[in-house]
Amino acid sequence: MEKQVLAAKLNEQLKGFTPEKVLWYFIKEYGKNMAFSSSLGAEDQVLTNMICEIDKNTRIFTLDTGRMFPETYKLIEKTNSRYKIKIEIFFPDYQQVENMVHEKGINLFYESIDNRKQCCHIRKIEPLKRAFKGLDVWICGLRREQSITRTSNQLVEWDENNSLLKINPLIDWTENQVWDYIRKHNIPYNDLHDKGFPSIGCQPCTRAIKSGEDVRAGRWWWENPDKKECGLHNTAE
Ligand code: ADX
Ligand code: SF4
Repeated sequence: MEKQVLAAKLNEQLKGFTPEKVLWYFIKEYGKNMAFSSSLGAEDQVLTNMICEIDKNTRIFTLDTGRMFPETYKLIEKTNSRYKIKIEIFFPDYQQVENMVHEKGINLFYESIDNRKQCCHIRKIEPLKRAFKGLDVWICGLRREQSITRTSNQLVEWDENNSLLKINPLIDWTENQVWDYIRKHNIPYNDLHDKGFPSIGCQPCTRAIKSGEDVRAGRWWWENPDKKECGLHNTAE
């Protein structure tokens, strides 16, 4: 079956299923050929909990850009010990990082959008492509509500650039649903969430938001909201 058709069919078939049921379906169908990419954000901690209740052998990986918050590293350890798992960590290619930093400086991303995209490409996209090796299915924690760049995302999508089925089990969830689930299951979460950081990425590119601001206002805050994706979720860039 054409992959786009398969994605559309699964999207229709699984619509209205709980995230747990969606995860169960893909874990059973695809096993080691699927993986969940976790940024250790609130949504991702919900998914880790759900996945570990189904099958702890499911692959979970994170991209360590080398510029994460100390709180995020702490949470990797805490999550591993809570669930008795080992989140796989992918690092950027050191030569690419060294060349970029040598040429453009350590904090090049503040200088221009091109620089910012180059840094995201080297520190996130290239390692992500390596993490995808051998995969048919990619699980993500996207929610439609998060951003104007995510309003058209679906539960099941065909990711043409990476030739993968991309699954967003929490696509319809609200922020309140995420936090209710975290509290109910006493799930470990990033300490920064209690300090005004609803969305957490790299340290130099994330800041706290003020009350009333958009949840992603603290990400690449110096850029235009309709352009604020790092390329993980619009990999054509
Ligand atoms: S981002 O593209 O702006 O950084 P965001 O932080 O909202 O993304 O996270 C959305 C989803 O992208 C997460 O739920 C996760 O599946 C994936 N993701 C984002 N950052 C990482 C990361 N560093 N490692 C692994 N997956 C990530
Ligand atoms: Fe580089 Fe910032 Fe992108 Fe992280 S978010 S990879 S530091 S530009």
